[in-house]
Amino acid sequence: MSKVIVVTGTASGMGKATVDKFAAEGWNVVATVRKEADLTVHEGNPRVKTLLLDVDDEQAAPAFAQQALGQFGRVDALVNNAGYYQMGPIESTSLDQIHRQFQTNVFGLIAVTKAFLPHFRRQRSGVIVNISSLTAEQGYPYSAAYAASKAAVATFSEGLSMEMAEFGVVVRAIIPGQHATRIFTKIDVASGIDEEYQPGIESFFAATPLTGSLPHVTADVIYQAVVDPQTTRVRYYSGPDSTAIPEAKRILGPQQYWEEFRQAAVGRPSALFRTLVPVPGPEPLEREV
Ligand SMILES: NC(=O)c1ccc[n+]([C@@H]2O[C@H](COP(=O)([O-])OP(=O)(O)OC[C@H]3O[C@@H](n4cnc5c(N)ncnc54)[C@H](OP(=O)(O)O)[C@@H]3O)[C@@H](O)[C@H]2O)c1
Repeated sequence: MSKVIVVTGTASGMGKATVDKFAAEGWNVVATVRKEADLTVHEGNPRVKTLLLDVDDEQAAPAFAQQALGQFGRVDALVNNAGYYQMGPIESTSLDQIHRQFQTNVFGLIAVTKAFLPHFRRQRSGVIVNISSLTAEQGYPYSAAYAASKAAVATFSEGLSMEMAEFGVVVRAIIPGQHATRIFTKIDVASGIDEEYQPGIESFFAATPLTGSLPHVTADVIYQAVVDPQTTRVRYYSGPDSTAIPEAKRILGPQQYWEEFRQAAVGRPSALFRTLVPVPGPEPLEREV
């Protein structure tokens, strides 16, 4: 009998690539989109059933879980992928923007997770995969709220993995590096930025490569994380800029790594840092897959 996976936020990018990957591996997939117009995005793939879900709507999560369970009669894995990027100096970012960032990236993710926990606990099996980010490992300037939301996702996953271990439920956090997806076309940017911030923002953008990995790079890592028989590992890294981080931190030690990263983030990477941490994948960000 085919296994069943639920993936949120599948209209594009890593979510869409994850749906394609699991369907190609013989899984049945319950995919969610939040716009009616996107309900046809997986049309033609007989293994995929597409449902509407806005993860911001916490009240909708329990009914959604029941609906998802009804599609193929069981659920073996859940990928919490839906998310977006809020950007700008914190001084110019409204608290409302920060609340909304956490609503989608953290509280919505927790609400969907909670809705599936009773099922996984009673089933004595299940894998929950939460999409965090490289920013959870190292805060970037003008991305502090996003980074904080993704750090919350990573440590939430670690805590939950211990809570659920005795019920046979495995929890993972994926740490993708920069990927060429539509996320960069939908950034929620701060407004009214004081001109004193402009030189710093310009250095940051000058230092940020305008390339990324293709979404299938992370979809492949999500697949590995779901089928990995090792149950206690939480963090899985994807993309060259991310997979290099644990080793670079080990070689440099946490404080020197942080000092080197700070310089690199504003366009002054040392030769050593360049050697240890490669740039993201080669795809131009405007490719927007
Ligand atoms: N791209 C990167 O460099 C990168 C790096 C690290 C981590 N990530 C994370 O990877 C995940 C996937 O992002 P992506 O890069 O593949 O971008 P993407 O192509 O924009 O995909 C994000 C998906 O999440 C959906 N979404 C956003 N808010 C939602 C909500 N409230 N309810 C339901 N769905 C919602 C989007 O729906 P719409 O199409 O309707 O907007 C879209 O389908 C995100 O969690 C992101 O933070 C991305």
